[in-house]
Amino acid sequence: MSFDVHAFRAKEYPWAERGEAVYFDHAATGPLPQRARDLMVSYGLKRAEPFRLTMDDFFPVFARGRANAAALVNAQPRNIALMSNTSHGVNLAARALPYGPGDVVLSVHGEFPANVYPWMIAARRRGAEHRLLPLIDNWPDEAGLMHAIETDPRIKVVALSWVSFWSGYRFDIAAIGAACKARGIYFVVDAIQGLGPLTLDLAKTHVDILACGTQKWLLSPWGSGFAYVRDELLAELEPEEVGWTAQAGSGDFGAFLDYDPAWHDDARRFEVITLDYVNFNAMAESLGMFLEVGPALIEARVRALADRAVEFADAHPEIALVTPRDPAHRAGVLSFRTVDVPAASQRLLAAKVTHTVREGCVRLSPHFYNTVEEMDLALELLAR
Ligand SMILES: Cc1ncc(COP(=O)(O)O)c(C=O)c1O
Repeated sequence: MSFDVHAFRAKEYPWAERGEAVYFDHAATGPLPQRARDLMVSYGLKRAEPFRLTMDDFFPVFARGRANAAALVNAQPRNIALMSNTSHGVNLAARALPYGPGDVVLSVHGEFPANVYPWMIAARRRGAEHRLLPLIDNWPDEAGLMHAIETDPRIKVVALSWVSFWSGYRFDIAAIGAACKARGIYFVVDAIQGLGPLTLDLAKTHVDILACGTQKWLLSPWGSGFAYVRDELLAELEPEEVGWTAQAGSGDFGAFLDYDPAWHDDARRFEVITLDYVNFNAMAESLGMFLEVGPALIEARVRALADRAVEFADAHPEIALVTPRDPAHRAGVLSFRTVDVPAASQRLLAAKVTHTVREGCVRLSPHFYNTVEEMDLALELLAR
């Protein structure tokens, strides 16, 4: 499929097309496409004057959000629970999965805290061990991880970020998922730095629970995200948190006082509260845009920009690319150790290249609507 990047930018990201900023910070906060902005304004106005809201503005909004999230990962809407962020999905896993004294929750150093603290604290409360494998030269020891999965019977859960927020290292989650499945180990993935720049087919890749905020690479508002829960777990797992919307009976607004605590039989059992319709409406719209443009095309475009970063690093030995060169082990997070990181960051800022410094590295995180010219400009500023 052909993709006219300039026409797309003119429509969805006019500020980018006008050159107001070179936005390379999708690993931090995703800009909202015009269509989501428009919807937030129109829906927000109705929210301010709620007598304008109709029934179509409520449950169908969430249903569309679940359907689009499901389509993006090739799951069914029944597997999707809307979540206000990644942490909430990780908590659902850390608190609902069965593990106890003597069991091990396995992860790696270098994880973002949202995928560390929930496990650390849940493991402590249950008398389980939360084990972090050390990094080797900035990268997780994937072979060591596989060895542990294959040989240590105490491991009950493996919890990983698909893509590292700072090094950009991408795990082979298909291989790890298959190894976990073969040994009855629960596999939990924080997908926030992977999904969007990468495609994911959960019908082929075994994951038990996947947590994904959509505020970064999925170009949606803060306060939006989703969790995927594998079919077989839906009936087995009970949420720790209880509100009212997770109860099937709450769908009947005429029978609130029946007090039937039975959960929804799908992933909605993990949606505990009244969620933000404005945000989830915009999320549904942004995810719809991904489906329209095509996840495979998006992946190919991000990869082509990342390929340029690899070529650049090869030509500039004074700049260390911390992100793996192997395309199978990277996504959209590109991390560099330059000779003088603060100075490089200043040069980028002066040229309006939005980026982040993380763990002593300059992090560039381009998306599919960025151009080769923008990428080359940023790389040149790193080297100067
Ligand atoms: C790997 C990873 N997980 C989670 C988060 C954020 O978590 P939440 O969506 O709960 O704010 C980030 C944000 O930087 C991240 O990089």
